[in-house]
Formats: sequence, C-alpha cells, structure tokens
Amino acid sequence: MSVEAVETSSAAETEELGARIAARLRLGDVVLLSGELGTGKTTLVRGACRALGVPGPVTSPTFTIGQRYEGGRMPVSHLDLYRLQTLEGEDPALLDDYLRPEGVAFVEWPAAGSGRIDRPALTVRLSHLDEERRRVEVDW
Ligand SMILES: Nc1ncnc2c1ncn2[C@@H]1O[C@H](COP(=O)(O)OP(=O)(O)O)[C@@H](O)[C@H]1O
Ligand SMILES: [Mg+2]
Repeated sequence: MSVEAVETSSAAETEELGARIAARLRLGDVVLLSGELGTGKTTLVRGACRALGVPGPVTSPTFTIGQRYEGGRMPVSHLDLYRLQTLEGEDPALLDDYLRPEGVAFVEWPAAGSGRIDRPALTVRLSHLDEERRRVEVDW
C-alpha cells in the first residue's frame, strides 16, 4: 500500500481524482471516504461515478444509508453512514445490498461500518485547506 497526498484547488480537480481512483477499481472493491462535512467526499464519488459511466445525479443519500446507481459499466453503490453511530443492533444484512461482489462501493463516514466492511480496497481522507483547496490522502 502506498499513500499519496494531493492538493486539489477546485471541485473539478477532486472529481478528476475520483476518476483516477475509479480507473483502479475492480469488481467487489470498496472505497472508504472520511473527512468533515464539505470536504468533498460526495464530489469525489461523483467524479468516480462519471468515469464509470453512471448517468444521472450523484448526491449524498439523505433518507437512506445508501443508493445504488445502475447504467454504468458496473453497478456502483454509494453509502453515507453519517447518521449511524454504530451498526450494533442493526440488521447484519444492512450493508449486503450495497457491498456486492459484482459491483463497487463508496462509503462516506465509514466509522460505523468498521468491522462490517471486509476488504476496503482503498481509503481516502479529505481535509479543508481553505475555501477551494482540499488535502486528499489516498491509501492505494
Ligand atoms: N477542492 C475542492 N474539492 C471538492 N469540493 C470542493 C472543492 N472546493 C470547493 N468545493 C465545494 O465544497 C463542497 C463539497 O461538498 P461535498 O462533496 O458534498 O462534501 P462532503 O460529501 O464531504 O460533505 C461542494 O460544494 C464543492 O463544490
Ligand atoms: Mg457527502
């Protein structure tokens, strides 16, 4: 595993990094994204989805823990576990609909899912530098 730290200066640059990550993914891979609100997690996922040919809007799931995008080169799941403190007491199969071997998945706020996500392919950490700049660390 190698760690790469980059600085992005716009949402478009963060989307490009997402596309670069997408190019490396294999079926079954899970990408974990952490970082405060507004650092660009969803923006990065959007760039990855575009690169994978997903049509339509890519926004953070708000009323469910996740959504699935069809119509791209492979099924893509997008989870946001922000509102979950823990998966304890939740249906053990909760994540199964999203983490599937025949697709790839992106998980925002993955902490609650730790232990339930077997093999994250890579981890991304985002942080604010200023209004438009973000530091993005990718553990490849
Ligand atoms: N370098 C950057 N990378 C990503 N987003 C940026 C950047 N600069 C400004 N933004 C803006 O910050 C916001 C990031 O929002 P979002 O991707 O939803 O963050 P998160 O999912 O981490 O809460 C968007 O409004 C985006 O346009
Ligand atoms: Mg988000």
